[in-house]
Amino acid sequence: MNGKLLLSSALIVFCLSPAFCEETDREVDPAPVREVRPGVYVGVASCANGFCHGSTAPKDETSVLQNEYPTWMLGPHRGAFRVLRNELSQAIAKALDPDGKPAHERDECLACHALVTPPGKSENVFRDDGISCEACHGPAGGWRDQHFEEDWTYQKSLDAGMRDLRDAKKRAGVCLECHLGAADRKVDHRLIAAGHPRLYFELDNYAGKIPRHWKVGRSRSTTGVRAWAVGQVASFRAALVSLERYAGGDEGWPEFSEYNCQSCHHSLASNAWRKQAGYRFQGGYPPYVARYAVLRQLVAELDGGELDRFDAAVDDLVRAASSFRSRQDVAARAKAVTAVLDEVEGDLTGAKWKGGQVRSMMRRIAKERADFLPDLVAAEQAAFALQSLLSRWVELDRKVASGEVARTIDDVFASLDDPDAFDRGRFEELLARLEGQL
Ligand code: HEC
Ligand code: HEC
Ligand code: HEC
Ligand code: HEC
Repeated sequence: MNGKLLLSSALIVFCLSPAFCEETDREVDPAPVREVRPGVYVGVASCANGFCHGSTAPKDETSVLQNEYPTWMLGPHRGAFRVLRNELSQAIAKALDPDGKPAHERDECLACHALVTPPGKSENVFRDDGISCEACHGPAGGWRDQHFEEDWTYQKSLDAGMRDLRDAKKRAGVCLECHLGAADRKVDHRLIAAGHPRLYFELDNYAGKIPRHWKVGRSRSTTGVRAWAVGQVASFRAALVSLERYAGGDEGWPEFSEYNCQSCHHSLASNAWRKQAGYRFQGGYPPYVARYAVLRQLVAELDGGELDRFDAAVDDLVRAASSFRSRQDVAARAKAVTAVLDEVEGDLTGAKWKGGQVRSMMRRIAKERADFLPDLVAAEQAAFALQSLLSRWVELDRKVASGEVARTIDDVFASLDDPDAFDRGRFEELLARLEGQL
């Protein structure tokens, strides 16, 4: 790549096509060239140059596609701030505080719906850019002006403040900060009751759903069954950290969003599903089961010898959380589950996923279907798992793509299309069919 050419044009924002000009044609302060300011956020406009990441078409010359900016424009993160002006957001803000600020001015919303920077650490960052490059890749002030030079390496960028998204575990951590929440950004029961959608996340499926702006190859893939397994562990770990924080810290406890929603929100009719199914948590308030129902099957498949220990640790947590007696005990039990997770993690994320194993894992999910029935979010996690496993199976044997198993998994997804019409009977029937086909 021609470094000189890049530098001479680095400060000009190109309008790629009228559709992209709408909000990028504002004045940008001329930043001094090659100034190195680690930790400073420099704004999306400084990445969007036509010679850098703003090419209208993908290029072959360098290790990156160079059309990352227009690709990001098409994805869900670009409009994340704009969402805060919509009717639902205004209603949420009103429900939280009738006399308070509108959603697009509330820090508790901006934390996930825009790129929020520490004081004094930002230039040319605009809220209406939504979740721009540096929200995921980290502040670019320390490396923007060098990272295209010939002898520059990925590691040098990381040392200068870039976040490592090539590493699936770290990538999951970045996504989960907003898609599950963190100490400084929360979708708690207060927000959910006010109307915020409850959050769910699965690394493989979600990474596949944002328009891809990176190259993949034989040795590198952002999606697939291994990403799925890494994401399962990362998501549960993040959920345990959150539970521990709520229970052990000075935030309000009990925090209802840490529990199974159905513990409180269920029908009291005598024929209600929760009563008929001989529900295993009847009478209790288990922590959010959806967060580990699929992971538990992964432990059973890949690290069966540790399943008893995993179950025992989780059962202790469920008991502690259900009793509402000691919040410190809940925090301690969450920590103990994390310790078991640390030990099984390597076996879960390092698997090779040969054909037999893929099929056996799918069969396990289909067979243990009762575990996913309590909660739509758990059912969704089961469907995501089947999808990731199927894509691996198709990699190994193309014929599978047009076979009956693939068709049933399509039906499973279709059955979850409308969250308001989640039909447990239908979902159960489809997984029973799948079990027969495997
Ligand atoms: C912990 C991060 C986080 C916080 C804090 C947060 N949100 Fe969200 N919000 C999300 C995520 C992630 C989604 C997308 C969920 C999905 O589709 O998986 C979302 C979705 C939404 C949606 C639905 C999206 C749409 O297209 O209509 C609205 C509306 C919304 N948020 C408004 C708000 C408001 C208002 C606040 C502040 C009161 C807020 N959010 C705080 C992460 C957050
Ligand atoms: C929602 C998070 C997110 C946002 C926002 C985002 N990216 Fe990315 N980016 C990723 C992920 C995930 C990868 C894939 C990492 C991998 O596997 O190498 C990636 C990869 C890349 C790569 C390839 C890096 C490599 O290691 O080879 C470039 C270049 C890139 N992004 C540029 C951008 C630019 C420019 C923007 C803004 C216009 C942007 N990204 C916005 C998540 C994001
Ligand atoms: C700074 C917070 C933040 C980060 C980091 C983030 N997201 Fe998001 N993401 C959001 C918000 C907020 C929305 C909802 C936007 C909307 O509805 O307009 C969203 C939406 C999405 C959607 C669309 C969901 C749907 O229901 O269609 C996908 C897919 C997604 N994100 C994937 C990812 C992945 C993969 C990563 C990590 C590589 C990631 N996100 C990192 C905040 C974030
Ligand atoms: C320990 C009991 C409990 C748990 C667990 C619980 N909720 Fe609630 N929920 C309540 C109560 C009580 C209210 C009414 C008070 C309020 O608005 O906070 C409520 C209100 C709501 C509302 C507003 C609508 C209404 O019926 O008032 C929604 C939406 C909601 N909860 C969703 C959820 C979701 C989603 C979960 C799981 C993530 C969940 N709740 C977990 C007790 C619970």
